[in-house]
Amino acid sequence: MATTDLSKFEHDFLRVTQSAAIASYSWIGKGDRHAADDAATKAMREKFNEIEFHGTVVIGEGERDEAPMLFIGEKLGNANGQAKGPKIDIAVDPLEGTNLAAENKPGAICVIAAAPSGRLFHAPDTYMEKIAVGPKIGNSVSLSKSVEENLDAIAKKTGKKMDKITVVVLDRPRHSEIISRIKTKGANVKLITDGDVFGGVSTAFDHTGVDMLLGIGAAPEGVLTAAALKCVGGYLEGRLKFRNEDEKKRAVRMGIKEKDFDKIYTMDELVKGNDMMFVATGVTDSDLLKGVKQEKGDKDSGSYVTESIVFSKKYDTPLLVRNKTFGKGQK
Ligand code: FBP
Repeated sequence: MATTDLSKFEHDFLRVTQSAAIASYSWIGKGDRHAADDAATKAMREKFNEIEFHGTVVIGEGERDEAPMLFIGEKLGNANGQAKGPKIDIAVDPLEGTNLAAENKPGAICVIAAAPSGRLFHAPDTYMEKIAVGPKIGNSVSLSKSVEENLDAIAKKTGKKMDKITVVVLDRPRHSEIISRIKTKGANVKLITDGDVFGGVSTAFDHTGVDMLLGIGAAPEGVLTAAALKCVGGYLEGRLKFRNEDEKKRAVRMGIKEKDFDKIYTMDELVKGNDMMFVATGVTDSDLLKGVKQEKGDKDSGSYVTESIVFSKKYDTPLLVRNKTFGKGQK
């Protein structure tokens, strides 16, 4: 397989997520999640199409007939008609945590992941059961183990007492059993209303106090999270969860074999190889990133300050990019 130096695109990809975050800024707290998402999607697509590369959306806003932009299979980039040029697969979530943005709650981000062609798992738009941890814990946890066994593995790897271990879980009725098992074991639960990409990614940072993400969220978000965690030696496993027959058909259309409907996908199956990048820009404030701010006294020029994070094999620890200011043109 031809090699592609993804790090060359770091600045371009940052502009993509920054522009999307700035575009969604005026929708923060307005209660319209779809408008916020549409604004981010449009801005993201525009910026992608300024990049000289052959991009293909492998995880996007939906299938071609249901998403006008950034649909699965959509070609991106402005390689000026050159036959040559890096072929890069792109996973996008233009606005991860649409409700968070619409309700001005912490943790909405604009996020992309990239890898050379053929390396990202083509996750269908279904649910995925996920377990995700940071580099200290790595693959000592697994979906094939019980909640209790995974907590014991974390205690062993980190040297933490059980009452110092924290598991982030989406606050959904479907998680009532795992929540009660975590508590019975003596560990802590951090419930989030939305945004399990950030929940998973936060396991890579000591200061968040989060050791593991557990539970069922969207499958595409699982691949995005895996791309980030793989860059820093963390670990994620995922198992698809289908709500109905239609979702199973969708999965088959995306290339999933029926025999793999219950399969546990390892990190290396979700993100193949060792060259991948994950870039996210904060929309609303969170433990990891500040949200978009419009610069004081600069209303007319429309300057914005954004905070982004880059996970790349190039960096031992994720790179925080602060205080990038863009005018209305977002150059
Ligand atoms: P959106 O940004 O598409 O609204 O997704 C937010 C999210 O919370 C994801 O982070 C998570 O994986 C998924 O929704 C959970 O889905 P559900 O709300 O159906 O439980």
